[in-house]
Amino acid sequence: MEKTALLLLVLGGLRSVVEALDNGLALKPTMGWLHWERFMCNTDCDNDPDNCISERLYMQMADVMVKEGWKEAGYEYVCIDDCWPSHQRDAEGRLQADPQRFPGGIKKLADYVHSKGLKLGIYADVGQTTCARYPGSLGYYETDAQTFADWDVDLLKFDGCFLNWTLLGEGYINMSKALNKTGKSILYSCEWPLYEWPFNRPNYTAIRETCNHWRNYVDVSDSWSSIRTILDWTSSHQDIIVPAAGPGGWNDPDMLVIGNFGLSHDQQESQMALWAIMAAPLLMSNDLRDICPRSKALLQNKHIIAINQDPLGTQGYRTAKSNNFEVWEKPLSNNSLAVAVMNLQDIGGPQKFPVVVIPGWKICDPRCTVTQILPQYKEMGVQTKQSDIALSVNPTGTTLLTITPIKGNFRRAHKLFWKNESVKRDQTNTL
Ligand code: GLA
Repeated sequence: MEKTALLLLVLGGLRSVVEALDNGLALKPTMGWLHWERFMCNTDCDNDPDNCISERLYMQMADVMVKEGWKEAGYEYVCIDDCWPSHQRDAEGRLQADPQRFPGGIKKLADYVHSKGLKLGIYADVGQTTCARYPGSLGYYETDAQTFADWDVDLLKFDGCFLNWTLLGEGYINMSKALNKTGKSILYSCEWPLYEWPFNRPNYTAIRETCNHWRNYVDVSDSWSSIRTILDWTSSHQDIIVPAAGPGGWNDPDMLVIGNFGLSHDQQESQMALWAIMAAPLLMSNDLRDICPRSKALLQNKHIIAINQDPLGTQGYRTAKSNNFEVWEKPLSNNSLAVAVMNLQDIGGPQKFPVVVIPGWKICDPRCTVTQILPQYKEMGVQTKQSDIALSVNPTGTTLLTITPIKGNFRRAHKLFWKNESVKRDQTNTL
């Protein structure tokens, strides 16, 4: 590697590490499972014992995560979302789990999850109540942080409902301090920018210093239009949000809904590919006890996970668009680029896309090696700047590639991202 290239890499790494929340966590995007999109606020354990929010649900998920290769693939956190607590705090003002649905309490559940080599996440809210109207943490930040630490919880998702937006920053920062004060490592997942955006442009420097990841945009649902909307929001704000991501702090486009009901297999591949490119936390919300083999293989695909978890920790972004196609690219640590080519046309059959049109293809000067990861793994061998091959991309599907220059073109590859193409929205190429 050239000396200057090495320097750029080191400086790039330092930039992120210095500014991030200094709790040593989330050096790579968080991987795990989170109940919300699939199980929502189902508290009816009498009629729906398998799907209600209860300790059984998390214990069963933890069991499956170990048995079915999820843990081995990197999925580590089993996370509770809203609707777990009792509607009343205890006599000392502490949150308590609903006694019918969590008879053992959260500490026992954490012990169980830890005994499987996994970690437990919990949910609370910066305001008066949670979004589903359970007790909020406003006025109780230190008490609640200490309660979660006493229970040995490993992650806190801190929602932003029912608080005036002008108090959001203070609230999120105070909870971050309260968590630090417990002395226990608790990964801190925020929704601060999501609740601030309607009123004000959020301060991403402060957010990155406070949180390990942060939601920017509305809740994901089990549909292609939801995935498209999230991607559109992300690309249209990439100049603001992409520079904030790096080891220790990540933009969170919300859960993976792969393995549920609403996405075709091509669309599931698009979500997986683009979440990898965005260096997004990979928090699945699905039923791991009952998931089809193709979705499982996609979620456990080690090549895609490696792109997401790449140690350089750079979030990718959209580099080109036309009516039919979008190209997204992410620089990787081994001088390579990951490239996703998504076909947005939802009518007709597969569409051709010439590889030379990919902006990052410039690194194939004079030659590069190319590996296709989706839809099937395929070594595409040595290619040149002028290769005349075309990808065939299914409607609403994505082809995912990695490209590695053969002759020390590292500097060129990275300059593409930080200078020539930068992350400026208006510089996205039109094909
Ligand atoms: C908000 C959050 C969701 C989920 C629900 C729970 O909508 O954005 O992710 O936590 O609240 O009520």
